[in-house]
Amino acid sequence: VQHLLGIKYITKEDIELIFKTADHFKEVINRPIKKVPSLRDITIANLFFENSTRTKLSFELAEKRLSADVINFSAAASSVKKGETLIDTVNNILSMKVDMVVMRHPNPGAGIFLSKHINASIVNAGDGAHEHPTQALLDSFSIRERLGEVAGKNVVIVGDILHSRVALSNIYALKLQGANVKVCGPKTLMPKYIESLGVEVELDLRKALQWCDVANMLRVQNERMDISYFPSTREYTQQYGVDKALLESLDKEIVIMHPGPINRGVEITSDVADSGQAIILDQVQNGVAVRMAIIYLLASKIKQ
Ligand code: CP
Repeated sequence: VQHLLGIKYITKEDIELIFKTADHFKEVINRPIKKVPSLRDITIANLFFENSTRTKLSFELAEKRLSADVINFSAAASSVKKGETLIDTVNNILSMKVDMVVMRHPNPGAGIFLSKHINASIVNAGDGAHEHPTQALLDSFSIRERLGEVAGKNVVIVGDILHSRVALSNIYALKLQGANVKVCGPKTLMPKYIESLGVEVELDLRKALQWCDVANMLRVQNERMDISYFPSTREYTQQYGVDKALLESLDKEIVIMHPGPINRGVEITSDVADSGQAIILDQVQNGVAVRMAIIYLLASKIKQ
């Protein structure tokens, strides 16, 4: 593939190749010298039209550890504010001999749209409520690391499914790899098409947790929320928040994931987020190796 626009557009074999490559880079970044010279001849632009901490810094670090030249663009401090279009913005950046674009954008499908108008590889770093493919890949990589494999595992994605690009990309990735997937959350935050993706809806959190090996706790996306979706944060937490007492009442120890940023005390309490059952910081650490693998594999297509 020349782009990574979504998990919908890749195969199980692509995922296996990314993970095998990421295994190698994970070993590289644990060495005293964390860099390889592989992409000295590649220049990458990180274009962020929406806020980010983890994804932005993880991509930058991944690119630098591959020895690529890196430029960073934040829409809020750019000529986008003077009315410049997305296509003009990106084509101006590409004219400076940039080979690859990593883009986060608030509009679903922004990367797909851009791919029809520019001549460079694009990696989707999150497009509105559509997809966040690198997050889903680092999530599956982290499940594989903790539990040995993804195939056959029971994974529940909990919370604000409606607004979540993490949920959609995870559903595609987990299904491709043979995991069993359920979604759990309030009916008002459940998209109408969800069952057509081959996942079961479980409205009862306790039952969902009792069933699963892994619970991926999504952030309640207040910035995308209409007041009518769900009555209140307090009610959400009462029905769908996970605390230590709830986890200890289950008859097995499950793995807790969260893509970040966490609303502490809303989706999960601090004693869960900071416990040994949570692999939240492992997910962040693995993000660098997984993104190195993705960029390396795409760059090798550019060089062909
Ligand atoms: N998980 C994630 O995408 O976090 P950021 O929004 O901070 O990049």
